[in-house]
Amino acid sequence: PQHTARRKDMMAWFASLVILGSVYVAALAFRLLSHLTVCLRRPKDLRRCYGTWAVLTGPTSGIGWSVAMELARRGLNLVLVGRDPAKLRDISETISRAAPTVQTKTVLFDLSLLTTAQGETSVRRRCGSCSRPWRSWTLDCW
Ligand SMILES: NC(=O)c1ccc[n+]([C@@H]2O[C@H](COP(=O)([O-])OP(=O)(O)OC[C@H]3O[C@@H](n4cnc5c(N)ncnc54)[C@H](OP(=O)(O)O)[C@@H]3O)[C@@H](O)[C@H]2O)c1
Repeated sequence: PQHTARRKDMMAWFASLVILGSVYVAALAFRLLSHLTVCLRRPKDLRRCYGTWAVLTGPTSGIGWSVAMELARRGLNLVLVGRDPAKLRDISETISRAAPTVQTKTVLFDLSLLTTAQGETSVRRRCGSCSRPWRSWTLDCW
């Protein structure tokens, strides 16, 4: 009887370990599957989802520069907004070299002036012929 009790104890331990191990392996498999799903998922067709053009602020350096290159790689034409003409030309040329089919338009504008009279004047100067309020301008207005 002592032998049987020890055997039962061992079986209980073994069962607990098996359950613990199974839970661990299941969690690991779930994480691996989630990771694989992200890696293997086909990238979203941005042109189909959002249209062929995107307006991008801050594309001349940092995060904006990387986003500009990635969007161009994925085939979006870009309106690049910034304050420095030389830097805008630079990113525009870099995009043209990396993705020759992608079109770019550069817009020289200081976004900190957006809600000021100076900003309004600057935008009006850019497109005096546009009769719509500038906040509802479309790409053609630029
Ligand atoms: N870096 C990070 O780790 C991090 C983390 C979280 C969030 N962010 C946020 O992400 C954004 C980008 O950050 P970043 O580090 O890549 O660079 P950043 O130095 O904040 O931004 C540089 C870009 O912003 C443009 N820019 C700055 N002021 C502007 C203005 N008044 N009008 C138009 N363009 C202007 C610059 O263009 P020009 O100089 O050519 O005009 C340049 O292309 C920021 O809002 C930042 O707060 C950054």
